[in-house]
Amino acid sequence: MKGLILAGGSGTRLRPITFTRAKQLVPVANKPILFYGIEAIRDAGIADIGIVVGDTKDEVMEAVGDGSTFGVDVTYIEQEAPLGLAHAVKVSQAYLSDDSFVMYLGDNLIKEGITPLVEEFRQTRPNCQILLAHVPNPQMFGVAELDGDRVVRLVEKPKEPATDLALVGVYMFDSTIFEAVNAIEPSWRDELEITDAIQYLIDHGRGVHPHIIEGWWKDTGKLQDLLEANMIMLDHLEAHIEGSVDEESTITGKVVVADGAEIRSSTIRGPAIIGRKTRIASSYVGPFTSIHDNVLISGSEVEHSIIMPGVRIEQIGHRLSDSLLGCNVKVTKTERRPASFKLMLGDNSEIEVV
Ligand code: TTP
Repeated sequence: MKGLILAGGSGTRLRPITFTRAKQLVPVANKPILFYGIEAIRDAGIADIGIVVGDTKDEVMEAVGDGSTFGVDVTYIEQEAPLGLAHAVKVSQAYLSDDSFVMYLGDNLIKEGITPLVEEFRQTRPNCQILLAHVPNPQMFGVAELDGDRVVRLVEKPKEPATDLALVGVYMFDSTIFEAVNAIEPSWRDELEITDAIQYLIDHGRGVHPHIIEGWWKDTGKLQDLLEANMIMLDHLEAHIEGSVDEESTITGKVVVADGAEIRSSTIRGPAIIGRKTRIASSYVGPFTSIHDNVLISGSEVEHSIIMPGVRIEQIGHRLSDSLLGCNVKVTKTERRPASFKLMLGDNSEIEVV
């Protein structure tokens, strides 16, 4: 069996971060989201992984390399444009050949991993196995209708959903999926939809089995979902302190302070992670905060946020929360007159002031 991770796409819902960065590389608990997917596939006993890449190909390749640091063998598959999940399968046909495979959306996180699902697929050998979860808002998802342990219909974002079972971003296929992805037509949004390909399998008498998961999972395509994923993953960490913490500082709860980090006259309340060579001085870092490497936080308060490498936050008068700051962002206090907000923001930036 092989793995196929989809790490192309356009990431419009995460602009401006995705103007300069692959959304799959945004860090959650200081680790790129994509790495969780690679590890989940590896832990399910799959060593050959194809990664579908688009415009952000170079960045993804630089972060993942040949896969050897994860103990897997990675092959990159170029998708010329984000023409849909089924299109990503289509362009991967030569790599996947006759093997069965697990397809994993590179911006998804599944807390318990995928090992039991892959085991079940290996034992029962349907043509396709989809992952489903009960959700309160099925109108926002691809929704499945079941008859016993068979899927009979998939509907994309139905106005009146027949069930509350949403498609989660992990699918297992045998090579019959290629017949489907080569037969279907683009949808109204001009994409080859994976739901249409799976419906094609159902309509042609193929076995499509559901696996309903009860554990936590998230599609991290939007800011609020990323912050929630960050909360869940931080809660998983084991506390350890390698950097230096002075006597005027207080650390409570689950906190990781990486090697080379310095905490001076500050309070860190976990779960939180402080990256390498980051300096926190006369500041408060509250729960559910991930602060990456080479960051400076001085005279400020931050909580429930993801702070990427190289950021500087200095002497800001209000607490920063529910925020995602991209690499090298600066938020500082100024004494310069006129006393006003002075901003340089990229397209689609969002600011809420008090
Ligand atoms: P989506 O989140 O559905 O799409 P997107 O990345 O284009 O984002 P947005 O809706 O905000 O514009 O994609 C799910 C995953 O699949 C994500 O990791 C990107 C990847 N993907 C591809 O690799 N190729 C594609 O053609 C598409 C549509 C997505």
